[in-house]
Amino acid sequence: MLHIVNLVSKTLIESGKSLEIASGSGQHIVQLASSLPNYIWQPTDVDQKRIISIDHRTKDNIHRNIKPARYLDATQVGWSLNYPNQNFILLINLLHLISWEKTKTLINETFQSLALDGILIIYGPFMRDGKLTSKGDIKFHKNILENDPTLGYKNDKEIKNYLLKIGLTHLNTVKMPANNLAFVFQKLSNNLSKS
Ligand SMILES: C[S@@+](CC[C@H](N)C(=O)[O-])C[C@H]1O[C@@H](n2cnc3c(N)ncnc32)[C@H](O)[C@@H]1O
Repeated sequence: MLHIVNLVSKTLIESGKSLEIASGSGQHIVQLASSLPNYIWQPTDVDQKRIISIDHRTKDNIHRNIKPARYLDATQVGWSLNYPNQNFILLINLLHLISWEKTKTLINETFQSLALDGILIIYGPFMRDGKLTSKGDIKFHKNILENDPTLGYKNDKEIKNYLLKIGLTHLNTVKMPANNLAFVFQKLSNNLSKS
């Protein structure tokens, strides 16, 4: 099993522009920007308090390759227009917190935001073939559903099939720590096939 920074480091080559959706505290982007100094890193989040804390965390970034955090609601149609030609997009730990409809919008926008040959990594907890596979996952999924029955863990096959359906190419699905999965996809064609 690989840590997310190792996975990204061995997946990306050369240099480019990268966008992180739902950066949270900014903990991942700080490590990634340090490990991949040839990339310019754009942190984003929907929560203004998180945006402030990301900027606080990234202000001492030695390579000066992390941009100021920006507001992004990744479930809104059209956001990709503000983030064109991304060579890499990273999304960690969000899909279980949004509905399937919003997940599809997020993925469609991500496709449009990616540059040709760009890489997408989606990381987080997922069902395997429709099943929850650890006690912790069963409990977490149940808690989420109690607050909102439209949310909760997505199924690995459904996510993978949707990414394939819109026109992305599957490179790898990697088992990650804490029973998480990372889906690695690439945009090899500009034609978005909508559902
Ligand atoms: C569980 S945290 C994950 C944070 C970070 N990616 C990590 O793994 O440490 C979920 C994050 O998603 C953000 N978020 C929730 N809804 C969002 C949306 N519609 N668009 C973008 N970010 C969103 C939250 O503000 C929060 O920072």
